[in-house]
Amino acid sequence: METETIHPHSEIQPSTKMSGPADDELVRLDRVERIYKMGDNVVRALDGVDISIHKGQYWSIIGRSGSGKSTLLNVLGCLDRPTGGTYFLGGTNVNQLDDDALSEIRGQRIGFIFQSFNLIPQLTVLENLEVPLFYQESEPGVAKERAERFADRVGLKDRLHHRPNELSGGQQQRVAIARALMNEPLILLADEATGNLDSKTEKEILTLLDELHQEGMTIIMVTHSDKVADRAGHKLELRDGKVLKITHLDRSPL
Ligand SMILES: Nc1ncnc2c1ncn2[C@@H]1O[C@H](COP(=O)(O)OP(=O)(O)O)[C@@H](O)[C@H]1O
Ligand SMILES: [Mg+2]
Repeated sequence: METETIHPHSEIQPSTKMSGPADDELVRLDRVERIYKMGDNVVRALDGVDISIHKGQYWSIIGRSGSGKSTLLNVLGCLDRPTGGTYFLGGTNVNQLDDDALSEIRGQRIGFIFQSFNLIPQLTVLENLEVPLFYQESEPGVAKERAERFADRVGLKDRLHHRPNELSGGQQQRVAIARALMNEPLILLADEATGNLDSKTEKEILTLLDELHQEGMTIIMVTHSDKVADRAGHKLELRDGKVLKITHLDRSPL
């Protein structure tokens, strides 16, 4: 099975909203490619990917090492640009944005969490959380208020003045999740976010993601674990840069 979406296979596509994404369609990829050329060597990291993700959905992306998962997440997160095809984010054609506009979207619309937490070791939890708002012209006190709110949300209210090395791996990932939420993003992207955690801590983090999803957050999570992938309502399997299969999982109400 490829995907269930049917696209006009024309090379000449109007560059703005073509058939117009549906209102609650947050992400739409039309035949997206990411080709790396190194000398004579051409790697088709993404090779004609079509996806449609709606607001509030929880997706997992799974596939072997090298199948294109991180490349796809980086494109979705505007860290990288497709070399072909079209990416609409909230109805905006991302291909048409310049670097400044792209980094603005990344800073304001996307929350990222990674396997390696990526916290700043010299800063406290509170200060790490304030970082995403540092370059934004927010009212004094807004960053601190939000940082306290999201620290509380992830269960770390009593750790605000600790540094990352005084926290467990699970707590550090909670800080990273709170930091990803600071800009109130449209979408939360996670790349192997539980890859460094023991299974009990992994469960706690997955439960937190479940809760955020129930609160309305759109989540896209890369994992190589089937068990983790099955927590999401929609599972996309990649192989050699192509969509091998999309499964919409039946989830019983919680
Ligand atoms: N910056 C790069 N330059 C060249 N090739 C790359 C680069 N990044 C990824 N690739 C190649 O693209 C393919 C997909 O990589 P990646 O998206 O990291 O896969 P995954 O996350 O599924 O392990 C691999 O063959 C990888 O070697
Ligand atoms: Mg990867």
